[in-house]
Amino acid sequence: MHYWRTRLRGLGIYAFTQAPTLGVDTQPTGVGAYVSSAPPHQCIRLASQFCGTLVHDDEGIILLVFKTYSYFERTKDSMEIRKVGVIGCGLMGSGIAQTCAQAGYETIVREVAQDFLDKGMARIQGAWDMMLQKGKINEEQARDYKNHLRGTLDTKDLADCDLVIEAVIENMEEKLRLFPALDNALKPEALILSNTSSLNITQMGAVTKRADKVCGLHFFNPAPVMKLVEIVRTISTSDETVETVRAFAKSLGKTPVVAKDTAGFIVNFLLIPYLLAAIRMYENGLASKEDIDTAMKLGCGYPMGPLTLLDYVGLDTTLWAAEALYEEFKEPLYAPSPLLRRMVNSGMLGRKSGRGFYEY
Ligand SMILES: NC(=O)c1ccc[n+]([C@@H]2O[C@H](COP(=O)([O-])OP(=O)(O)OC[C@H]3O[C@@H](n4cnc5c(N)ncnc54)[C@H](O)[C@@H]3O)[C@@H](O)[C@H]2O)c1
Repeated sequence: MHYWRTRLRGLGIYAFTQAPTLGVDTQPTGVGAYVSSAPPHQCIRLASQFCGTLVHDDEGIILLVFKTYSYFERTKDSMEIRKVGVIGCGLMGSGIAQTCAQAGYETIVREVAQDFLDKGMARIQGAWDMMLQKGKINEEQARDYKNHLRGTLDTKDLADCDLVIEAVIENMEEKLRLFPALDNALKPEALILSNTSSLNITQMGAVTKRADKVCGLHFFNPAPVMKLVEIVRTISTSDETVETVRAFAKSLGKTPVVAKDTAGFIVNFLLIPYLLAAIRMYENGLASKEDIDTAMKLGCGYPMGPLTLLDYVGLDTTLWAAEALYEEFKEPLYAPSPLLRRMVNSGMLGRKSGRGFYEY
């Protein structure tokens, strides 16, 4: 039995290419048959979503038949992605690698040292163990996810990747060393994407010979859970690259938005000044931290108040993002307040350090 690689498996839907009793065409032209362990209503929803056909066999198993390629929403303007490379297996890299493997892509993740790689891979395995324990996936799926993921310390192992996502530390010197190395190691048609939150992607593309194939793909933490990705196009990124990355993002189950390569993209451009204003409000004694949070939760319907959100995001991360925005636009709106800087100086980083605006 051969399994198609689609993210449908993440929904508990299995694909196979042998359905002789039903006479389903399984030519590699892209017609697939999907056996579902999901409840019928989910199959019907999927079938209508993908213009598929529902077939019941004698045992009551539901098959969902549709054009595999239409599922991927490939257009003539986008290239096909089969193998994905991820550089860095830290907090974001491990989440991105997990997401790609779950979506059925052959995924290879590269780290600088074995202990970092082991730690990142253990984090991913831990997430799958937890999903298995909670009944979100079954053993076969857990095995399947694992079979799609491999770790390496050698960039040469990424040579045949169609798309590589860089998620190394937020340091421009490191990224500018990495991009030419990737450019030399990868096949000429491969795309190179950066997960940077604040650095200049145009500059990363400029140190390669394929600036048209470089753009940002900004995931949010935790990457396997958060639905949004920002596609960041530079002045050199081609339309084909944007369309390929858009289709790829959708195949991961994400909702992509496209932004130009300027500091903050869409989300941080709007979010950071809001968070900084909340800190200034608290710092100037205009309201208590609890009241600021309650006001925005109940008055605006936000899931959490700004100071709680700051603790969740990390005060150090917020400070870097504010500095990058301030550096780009030189507007007081983006200037980090003295309190934020001093909290970071004293190690009050939020949840991750046990203390920020609140204690954990
Ligand atoms: N943390 C977040 O919430 C968040 C959200 C969105 C985007 N980002 C961006 O994602 C990127 C990674 O952030 P993170 O939080 O995962 O950092 P992290 O420190 O957790 O992980 C970075 C990893 O990259 C590895 N690394 C460094 N140089 C490398 C190289 N040349 N090759 C392979 N691996 C290398 C490090 O060993 C480390 O394990 C940054 O650009 C950051 O701006 C972070």
